[in-house]
Amino acid sequence: MCGIVGYVGRRPGKPIILDGLKRLEYRGYDSAGLALLEPDGINVVRAVGNLDALFLAAGEDSSDACVALGHTRWATHGRPTEENAHPHSDCSGRITIVLNGIVENYKELRERLVAKGHTFGSETDAEVVAHLIEEHADEGLTTAVRAALGELEGHYSFVAMSSDEPDRLVGTRLETPLVVGAGEHEMFFASAIPAFLCHTRRVVVLEDGDVVTLRADGAEYTDVAGNAIVREETEFPGDDDAAEKAGYETFMLKEIHEQPAALRDTLAGRLREDGTVDLSEVEGLGDEFLRRLRRIFIVACGTSFHAGLIVSYAIEQLARVPVQIDVASEFRYRRPVFDPDTLVIGITQSGETADTLAAMRLAREAGSPVLALTNIMGSQATRDADFVLFTRAGLEIGVAATKTHTAQVAALLLLALRLAWARGAMSEAELTALGRELRQVPELAEQLLARPSAIEQIAQRYHDERFFLYLGRGMGYAVCLEGALKLKEISYIPTEAYAAGEMKHGPIALLNSESPVVVVADDGPVFPKLVSNIEEVRARGADVIAVATDDNEVIGELSKDVLWVPKTDHHLAPILTVIPLQLLAYHIAGIKGLNVDQPRNLAKTVTVE
Ligand code: AGP
Repeated sequence: MCGIVGYVGRRPGKPIILDGLKRLEYRGYDSAGLALLEPDGINVVRAVGNLDALFLAAGEDSSDACVALGHTRWATHGRPTEENAHPHSDCSGRITIVLNGIVENYKELRERLVAKGHTFGSETDAEVVAHLIEEHADEGLTTAVRAALGELEGHYSFVAMSSDEPDRLVGTRLETPLVVGAGEHEMFFASAIPAFLCHTRRVVVLEDGDVVTLRADGAEYTDVAGNAIVREETEFPGDDDAAEKAGYETFMLKEIHEQPAALRDTLAGRLREDGTVDLSEVEGLGDEFLRRLRRIFIVACGTSFHAGLIVSYAIEQLARVPVQIDVASEFRYRRPVFDPDTLVIGITQSGETADTLAAMRLAREAGSPVLALTNIMGSQATRDADFVLFTRAGLEIGVAATKTHTAQVAALLLLALRLAWARGAMSEAELTALGRELRQVPELAEQLLARPSAIEQIAQRYHDERFFLYLGRGMGYAVCLEGALKLKEISYIPTEAYAAGEMKHGPIALLNSESPVVVVADDGPVFPKLVSNIEEVRARGADVIAVATDDNEVIGELSKDVLWVPKTDHHLAPILTVIPLQLLAYHIAGIKGLNVDQPRNLAKTVTVE
């Protein structure tokens, strides 16, 4: 969504803010700005475009300001213009704020404030906050922020500064992330931990309604009523090279190659050598609960939805539990029927996706137990669930999700095996054999990524195509949805993913020699049917690019190009078959000269509906 960085300390804030914004750029990058609290007032600099434009506008001149704010924006209300870029100030210019999220009642607030004589300089919802604080400025910044909170509706986090109190920042959050970093004689606010991780690993994750006043030597935490509260400080375990490219040309390529490690870490301690699963870390997911379940709902968005769809097949096939899956933005409005024996699984790598959080809350309020599958400790999803299962993919900076996706599939497969075990849906021998096979998948992914690959040549051959159709069956169809999303979101080429058996009911009309068809052909039970579909495609003159299991000669003969992956059980194959599709999208986008880490119009975390 947007990125917020705040600094109060004894060092010049300008380079700290600019560096922090660079580490949060994946959250949004259509405009950016910073505010420096100088002795003669607040100096605000804003620019349209990605952070390079702000760096240029901010210039090389040094600043002694030790209280500073920064913001990188993904526009919700108001076009990406300099006027709409944050920070925003009140009429006097003495109060300045940066905000992430949405003020849903901004129109009525703005009308009321204009009627009282306030003048606005932007089209944004965020600017009303600066003027609301101005209304109470004589009560002190912290009190004024609390007063403003009483008028706001929506979900947001914001940080304010005032030239009347030049030694502090005040921040607050409601259903949108804001964290505090505690350094030596310096304190930080940020939308996400990477912004200050190179300065301190001492982190305080804020709760909804917290109003926090930061000074160089510490923080005061209160609730919205002004009562003092205590917030726990934790040591963030992650390493700060997660925000570095480590020699790769892009974060996305780095993260594609980090998948074996992400898989190993996600499986570690949860999959014994004998192939049995240990999810005892997730208290409450005991045998009795798992046996009682009558149904599972999976809710998610985007790539996380595709992970859920992939494993929905495995859960039904292995554990024999009915699974319904829905994109969260549909689920939350279709009045689903809940009951205590329906487990709702919310899959969200960021733990902050508004639609997924809302769907999880709806389920919980209706009495269904909710499990969050997320990659971020302390994220909102961990607070809105009864159980939490973490992927351990490490920070993912590239907007196009890759390692978090395969880590989600691995974690969900563990859950499928655990369910099958608790319900006696498979024999112990079958289950442990599958578990031992899953233990091998990180190594197979390693081998796959280490192979010399024809993907760059294939990408070179097809990068100018104007449309790609993806076809698959069963879990392979779900992998097609993910592969098609990868290509469209980073190369902007229109794609369509279809169940291969459904192609003849319409999409086949799209086929000719101009439209390459990507087929995901793991050698599962429906492979023979897929062969017939490939023949139908070839009969229309379309080129077939197949993802297939090593030594599958049939596919080799039918396809113009084959992206080979190591053999494994077809329930586990999606972790491997998706990797060539990630790389195909990556190289096509690269050949087209596009920014794969920051695709246009996208943001890494969509904290608005
Ligand atoms: C995937 O490449 C996209 N970045 C997007 O679809 C993403 O998967 C979706 O927004 C869900 O994000 P979440 O996992 O953080 O909830």
